[in-house]
Amino acid sequence: MVSYKKLGLVNTKKMFAKAVKGGYAIPAFNFNTMEQMQAIVQAAVETKSPVIMQVSKGARKYANPTILRYMAEGAVQYAKELGCKKPQIVLHLDHGDSYETCKSCIDSGFSSVMIDGSSLPFKDNIKLTKKVVAYAHKHDVTVEAELGVLAGVEDEVAAEESHYTKPEEVIEFATKTGCDSLAISIGTSHGAYKFKPEQCTRDKKTGKLVPPPLAFDVLKAVEKKLPGFPIVLHGSSSVPQEHVDTINKFGGKLPDAVGIPEEQLRKAAKSAVCKINIDSDSRLAMTAAIRRHFAENPGHFDPRQYLTPAREAMKQLYIHKIVKVLGSNNKI
Ligand code: G3H
Ligand code: 13P
Ligand code: ZN
Repeated sequence: MVSYKKLGLVNTKKMFAKAVKGGYAIPAFNFNTMEQMQAIVQAAVETKSPVIMQVSKGARKYANPTILRYMAEGAVQYAKELGCKKPQIVLHLDHGDSYETCKSCIDSGFSSVMIDGSSLPFKDNIKLTKKVVAYAHKHDVTVEAELGVLAGVEDEVAAEESHYTKPEEVIEFATKTGCDSLAISIGTSHGAYKFKPEQCTRDKKTGKLVPPPLAFDVLKAVEKKLPGFPIVLHGSSSVPQEHVDTINKFGGKLPDAVGIPEEQLRKAAKSAVCKINIDSDSRLAMTAAIRRHFAENPGHFDPRQYLTPAREAMKQLYIHKIVKVLGSNNKI
C-alpha cells in the first residue's frame, strides 16, 4: 500500500471547495505519455494552477499502471524543480469500471478515483459507488461518481445517445453514496465528433458546424438540488478548428470534427462545475504539430525532433484552457 500523501499528491476535497466558492474549475487533463505529463506540469506551474492528472483504463493498458504512478510522483518533483513550492497535483483514475480497479489505484498511490456506474441501473450505480466510497474514504481518497449517460465512447462503454442527468435523482444519489463529486450529463460527449451534422447548424461563411447549446437548465436544476456540491463535466474538449485544419492540411482526415464552444465551458466553470475533463484537444494539438513537422521536415526521424514541438503545442493548449476557459490560474 502506497499512500498518495507520501508521493506529494493531494486529493480533491479542498481544491473543489475553493473552486466552487471562487467560480472557477480545475483542469482535469488525461495523460498517457511523458510529453503530456511534462506539458501539463509546465503549464500548471507557469500559470500557478492546481491540476488533476487523470489516467484512463486505456492509459493504464498503454503505459503500464506502475509507470504512470511513478510519472505522477515525478510530476510532483518536476513541479518543485520548476519553482512551485507546494504543487497542487491530483492523480485521478478516469472512468474506473469496477471496485477492484478503484481499489488497485488507491493502493498504488492515486489520490482520487472515479467509479463510473453511469451505465448501470440507478440502484446498482448507488450500490457500487457506495462500496468504492467506503474503501476510498478510509484512505482519505476522494471519489467522483456519474449520473446520466454521455454519448460516445467512455473506454469500453459506448452509448449512441446521451441521457441527461435527472435532477430529481441527485439528492438521493449523493446522500446514499457519500461521493465527493458528481459527473453529470448536459450534452457534452467524448471524442472529436461530439455532435452529428444533423444536430448542428452550419456557419455560412466558414462552412463549419455550429453545435447546439449545452443544457444549462439541467445544470441549474442540479445546482438547486445540491447547492455548493462539486459538479464535473466530462467530454469538454472544444476541438480547436485551427488544429483540425492543420491536421487536414497535412494529410489528415477529420471532416466535421466539432466540440463544445469555449464560452459555454467558461459559463459552466463559473457555476458549481469545478472539474472540466479535457483529453481530445491535447491529442489534436499533438497530432497537428507532428503532422506539420513531418510535412515541413521530411528527413527527420529522431522522435525528439517532432515531439519537442508537439509538447510545446500541448503546453500552449493547457495554458490557454487554464487562463481563458477555466480560470484556475493564480490559485496557488
Ligand atoms: O473518457 C475518455 C478519455 O478521453 C480517455 O480516453 O480511454 O481512449 O484513454 P481513452
Ligand atoms: P474529451 O474527449 O472531450 O476530451 O473528454 C475527455 C474526458 O471526458 C475524459 O474523461
Ligand atoms: Zn470522460
